[in-house]
Amino acid sequence: MPETPPAAGRSVFSLTGEVAIVTGGGSGIGRAIALGLAECGARVGIADASAEGAEQTAVAIRAAGGEAVAIETDVTSEDGMTDAVAAVEATLGGLSLAVNAAGIADAVPALELTTDQFERMYRINVTGLFRSCQAEARAMIRTGRGSILNLASISGLVSHREMLQAHYNSAKAAVAHLTRSLATEWAPHAIRVNSLAPGFTLTPMNAREEVASMRADISRQIPLERFAEPEEMVGPAVFLLSGAGSYCTGVDLVVDGGFTLL
Ligand SMILES: NC(=O)c1ccc[n+]([C@@H]2O[C@H](COP(=O)([O-])OP(=O)(O)OC[C@H]3O[C@@H](n4cnc5c(N)ncnc54)[C@H](O)[C@@H]3O)[C@@H](O)[C@H]2O)c1
Repeated sequence: MPETPPAAGRSVFSLTGEVAIVTGGGSGIGRAIALGLAECGARVGIADASAEGAEQTAVAIRAAGGEAVAIETDVTSEDGMTDAVAAVEATLGGLSLAVNAAGIADAVPALELTTDQFERMYRINVTGLFRSCQAEARAMIRTGRGSILNLASISGLVSHREMLQAHYNSAKAAVAHLTRSLATEWAPHAIRVNSLAPGFTLTPMNAREEVASMRADISRQIPLERFAEPEEMVGPAVFLLSGAGSYCTGVDLVVDGGFTLL
């Protein structure tokens, strides 16, 4: 039975009473969104391969008066996300929200990409994300409803002539279409599934040389003339996850300062 719209008068962006899990919540965009969800009232589980990163985010949420639990998880491990979801539910309650931000990026010329490099990219960014969605949806079916947000990218829409990341680009295109497919399949369970396609965002992922060295050139190609701060992904994420987005499912929301308009 699909989710009903939020009642009139209630803040449509409120996440009070919701329980969320954020993969990749130990850094960058995932961390900013985890903090933002907590600020909107959600209790948040942070699942990250970096125990230290996850703990730092949880500490920041608690310092701001929120509730959070940190869990060390590798999204590629067989039962990792099932166990992570169980740990979040044991501490915070039935899962209703999920953000899948765990991911990697690198640049390798397509003619030199090895099978190992190609498959590692897909194992983390596609298979790991799919297994995360699966574990989350199973929990949301028990809860009775849910909303999932996957981190896609503008790299799934355009191919960046100078960036040499065919494996990353194609993996992100897969995330957006996987999202549409799951949105269709899980709507009868009252689970909405959307993706966010950020443009260039100032996170540790973009501190790598191949992006940092091109920052000035890339910024000139962005109508807003700058990279995004991770915090600028929070509003779009809350919109899609909350009652404000109750009629959105299968959306790939581009938040890129206009980069893909050109
Ligand atoms: N930064 C950008 O410009 C940008 C743009 C578009 C999309 N994205 C996407 O947004 C998401 C977050 O990126 P970010 O820039 O915040 O990167 P980041 O490197 O700052 O954070 C990624 C997090 O994912 C975690 N992680 C990596 N592999 C993992 C695994 N196997 N299991 C669990 N956790 C794992 C890392 O420990 C890290 O905490 C990624 O999916 C990325 O592809 C980023």
